[in-house]
Amino acid sequence: MNAKIIDGKAFAATVRDRVARTVDRLKAEAGITPGLAVVLVGEDPASEVYVRSKGKATLEAGMNSYEHKLDADTSERDLLALIERLNNDPEVHGILVQLPLPAHLDPDVVINAIDPAKDVDGFHISNVGLLGTGQKSMVPCTPLGCLLMLREHHGSLSGLNAVIVGRSNIVGKPMAQLLLGDSCTVTIAHSRTRNLAEICRNADILVAAVGRPEMIPGDWVKPGATVIDVGINRIPHPEDGGKTRLVGDVDFDSAAAVAGAVTPVPGGVGPMTIACLLANTVTACSRAHGLPEPEGLTS
Ligand code: GUN
Repeated sequence: MNAKIIDGKAFAATVRDRVARTVDRLKAEAGITPGLAVVLVGEDPASEVYVRSKGKATLEAGMNSYEHKLDADTSERDLLALIERLNNDPEVHGILVQLPLPAHLDPDVVINAIDPAKDVDGFHISNVGLLGTGQKSMVPCTPLGCLLMLREHHGSLSGLNAVIVGRSNIVGKPMAQLLLGDSCTVTIAHSRTRNLAEICRNADILVAAVGRPEMIPGDWVKPGATVIDVGINRIPHPEDGGKTRLVGDVDFDSAAAVAGAVTPVPGGVGPMTIACLLANTVTACSRAHGLPEPEGLTS
């Protein structure tokens, strides 16, 4: 293996430490405790795990965590009424509705009901527009975590060829905006892209966010490239079909033999997503109280 392993877990611990120190300062100097409300509708097991880790991390950073677990058959009206309550609650500075939602709920309607100032996911249409035009916004946590790891590894990203495989609103599209903002030349590829292997081989930065286990092999990776694997896929264990293991969208071993640097799964992008969620909550809290933006949390 040639590649440097980018340790997302260790970097996330640094960001979480900065968040915790900012929270201590807010409490001591302004008597304010940032609060994050997480809403989960239904019982999707993966979402339950994510929501639990988000709540635990919020408490560990010294913030208040409010969990709202709703039945899978909750009506749109009831969910919107909860969001309205959270929008008006001064103790709640960040609101996150875990996706995916059950099929009868329209995620666009639900997300756009969140007060944009409390939209710590950065999914509200007004935050999407602000990010797309380079204005101050809430930035989606997973692509922000990827950007921080890339900046930490490369320093300047200016002029690098970045290829993002995946065009989701949660990762692919905002990742493209962020990399453009850092002066990369950006290509978004997806399931219909022709010559995908060739396009990937042209990438100095390859971001895999397709949700297909190990679909990107090492021979799609340009020698020395930086590979960011956003995928979290649970597959049967090769030696014991009764067990499962987590893999990314990249075939780690073959990619690590060629790449200059690669994020592991688990322990790469995942921990950074949570760290950025905490950072966004502190930022939202400071803005809500007219305080200066906390510096250096995500820069
Ligand atoms: N589901 C998968 N990733 C995310 C995320 O970043 N935020 C929310 N709200 N739901 C998700």
